[in-house]
Amino acid sequence: MIILGIETSCDETAAAIVSNGSEILSNVISTQVDYHKKYGGIVPEIASRKHQENIIPVVREALDRAHMQLQDIQGIAVTQGPGLIGSLLVGVNAAKAIAYARSIPLVGINHLEGHMLAPHLECDIPLPNITLVVSGGHTNIYYMEKVGSYRLLGKTRDDAAGEAYDKVAKLLGLGYPGGVVIDRLAQNGNPAAFSFPRPMMHDASCDFSFSGLKTAVLYCVKNNFPDGVPENVLPDLAASFQQAVVDSIVEKTLQACIVCKVSAVALTGGVAANSRLRLHMQQRAQERKISLYLTSTILCTDNAAMIAKAGSFKLAHDLPFPYEMNAISRWPL
Ligand code: KG4
Ligand code: ZN
Repeated sequence: MIILGIETSCDETAAAIVSNGSEILSNVISTQVDYHKKYGGIVPEIASRKHQENIIPVVREALDRAHMQLQDIQGIAVTQGPGLIGSLLVGVNAAKAIAYARSIPLVGINHLEGHMLAPHLECDIPLPNITLVVSGGHTNIYYMEKVGSYRLLGKTRDDAAGEAYDKVAKLLGLGYPGGVVIDRLAQNGNPAAFSFPRPMMHDASCDFSFSGLKTAVLYCVKNNFPDGVPENVLPDLAASFQQAVVDSIVEKTLQACIVCKVSAVALTGGVAANSRLRLHMQQRAQERKISLYLTSTILCTDNAAMIAKAGSFKLAHDLPFPYEMNAISRWPL
């Protein structure tokens, strides 16, 4: 089945065409970062307006790159939630219009389920497994019994890991979005230069907490560098903060594998693109004889191929959605 995926939950307008749930024929992502940068974060009103401008050109581009036309598409999958309501509505309404015009089935996808299935686009991952979704909005550990059956084992009690990256980057004056900048800067820094807390790292739950870490960085800066952080200290600060995030994520995720007696773990979501996290997870998983499945960085961050992948599964197993379906801003999985 040839599925068109559409994703507009946040600040990326994305469309992709996936064949038989596995072959990515095109994967187009139009980012709005430059429009939000000067505000230090996403402005929802700007995001929805930009999605409106971009959605048709992005869908067209996805069709062109796949050497296809609308009549070749057999089903549509669209991110229905969670996310910014004004942004979601653009994708949902575009998907409804195309599905109605072409009389093809339509399904709404939970963005988190899309992230969870992204690693499955690239390889066969054993089931059951532990899947970590670590992004700007979520840090969730799931026990995936099979596709469509997920148990949430733990989540962040405050900030998501990506949110902590973005907030720390902002307080260090590094701009938005922070993850990539901190990742790059940290490559020249000493991760042991500053001692930051790893909240909840050794407790019995699978939950995370990153808000205290962010505050620790804030006080470290205030106390040690009241006149501003010198340029040459930034890499050490970035590396030390990053190491605290990575240690928490790696420890908790592998602990979940051990508790659930599962020997496969998959990482997905924007923060799963982080170079230090990928390296440490590889080393620690190997020590504990757990097979690690990493996703290409293009499929870690928001994309529509993962939505089409989830859609292929749903259209094969469930009934298509009625056209009355609507965007859902809060939708836990
Ligand atoms: O999955 P995603 O694209 O959108 C959400 O669903 O949230 O994730 C975006 C988040 C942002 O917080 C961004 O700073 C973070 O992922 N991110 C990274 C890296 N690339 C993106 N964080 C750490 N290291 C990276 N290389
Ligand atoms: Zn996402």
